[in-house]
Amino acid sequence: MVKTATELWQQADIILKVQPPQADADGCHEADLLSAQQSLISFIWPAQNPDLVQQLSSRQATVLAMDAIPRISRAQKMDALSSMANIAGYRAVIEAANHFGRFFTGQITAAGKVPPCKVLVIGAGVAGLAAVGAAKSLGAIVRSFDTRPVVKEQVESMGAEFLELFFEEDGTGQGGYAKTMSPEFIAAEMALFAEQAQEVDIIITTALIPGKQAPLLITKAMVESMKPGSVVVDMAAEQGGNCEVTKPGEIYAYGDVTIVGITDFPSRMASQSSQLYGTNLCHLLSDMGGSDDYKVDLEDEAVRGALITYAGEVMWPAPKPQPPAVAAPPKTVVAPTVVEKKKPSPVVKALGLGALACGIVAIGLSAPPSFLAHFTVFILACFVGWQVIWNVSPSLHTPLMSVTNAISGIIIIGGLLQLQSGESGGGSGGGSDGFSVTSGLGAIAILVGTINISGGFLVTQRMLKMFRK
Ligand code: NAI
Repeated sequence: MVKTATELWQQADIILKVQPPQADADGCHEADLLSAQQSLISFIWPAQNPDLVQQLSSRQATVLAMDAIPRISRAQKMDALSSMANIAGYRAVIEAANHFGRFFTGQITAAGKVPPCKVLVIGAGVAGLAAVGAAKSLGAIVRSFDTRPVVKEQVESMGAEFLELFFEEDGTGQGGYAKTMSPEFIAAEMALFAEQAQEVDIIITTALIPGKQAPLLITKAMVESMKPGSVVVDMAAEQGGNCEVTKPGEIYAYGDVTIVGITDFPSRMASQSSQLYGTNLCHLLSDMGGSDDYKVDLEDEAVRGALITYAGEVMWPAPKPQPPAVAAPPKTVVAPTVVEKKKPSPVVKALGLGALACGIVAIGLSAPPSFLAHFTVFILACFVGWQVIWNVSPSLHTPLMSVTNAISGIIIIGGLLQLQSGESGGGSGGGSDGFSVTSGLGAIAILVGTINISGGFLVTQRMLKMFRK
């Protein structure tokens, strides 16, 4: 532990920080304490702070921005933006619950019915999905909207409803982020929000476009149309806010609606935020070679993306990664041979059906009545079984097989009865020691049925394990 920040900056080779360098009360700027041999790793927000970037570059030091770590799979463990957005989304729901002051879950009590709280989450990125999960786990009815249709499945997998506009415009921009939408799209989504505002109790907005002002989506009139006691949590407050009446950094009552415009959600869960941010930093340091081999590797995509200044040179923004080279098309294209499945002609089909019908009629005329009863049940069972199984999609065949145990159970009972009757009566095709073809078939039926039942249980067990944490 050292006594002053200046001492710390003078002694360390690498400085790890949360906020961008800033001036203290005496006017001493942290950036001026950096020397050429030092590295600084912290949030920098280079697009919003161009003067700071110039100031840092004049110090000849190496600076990496945690907010510029590229969003590639390999760099996920260093992605501080996601770690913080996840915490912020959760905390936004807790703040909303605190100001809402009612149950999230619906209840039916002896004293009366309590309707469930309805939550609308606008923007289903990392923070939005965390908010959806937290609100859902508290028992609320959750709806969500995003300009990127790709998140529909993610929202639905968390048990929430995805609101759709049926508007021919995809909001997916570069690197998984959103792009600015057309005025027509924004107008259409605002009409949707105007409808929702009258119905829901809590609106949590997280809509952001990197490096741009947050889109204005909730107007004064929409807030005024909300039910008394409702809450709006504007997580985009720092970037100008998604709600017209948000006051960044403040929580206040606009009429009967509480507007939460705080900008320090992760700091309100400081212990976990520090733990996750610290882990992100550790991962970046070990990616850079760890204590033994620390270096700035310009070939490392994660490091290059986060590099703001390197030995005095401004390195931000990093060049866009080259798309993979497209292989030259082969010179001769061999036309694929399509093997057509021969479908039986209608005449053949009709002849086959006719033969089958004749066969059944012949059996009906010649066979004994006891056989006919069993035969009719057999034909019906084949028909119903075929229709039921044929209409189940192939992806559901495994669960279907695991629940056919009931059928196997009946088969085993039938087999046991045949065995018993074979033993008592000697059987029709029988030998003198009580064994008969019928009891043999019964025994085979029991064996196959048992295999099916135990197999069904094993498959079910495996499938259940897949859903257990
Ligand atoms: P963000 O904080 O920049 O934006 C939040 C959300 O607001 C986004 O989902 C965006 O589509 C939505 N939005 C923007 N304008 C809107 C509008 N007018 N109306 C409604 N919604 C609007 O984004 P965030 O949460 O930091 O990440 C976005 C995406 O990036 C993730 O969903 C994921 O697909 C991708 N990602 C990928 C990572 C990786 O390592 N591969 C890591 C983290 C995120």
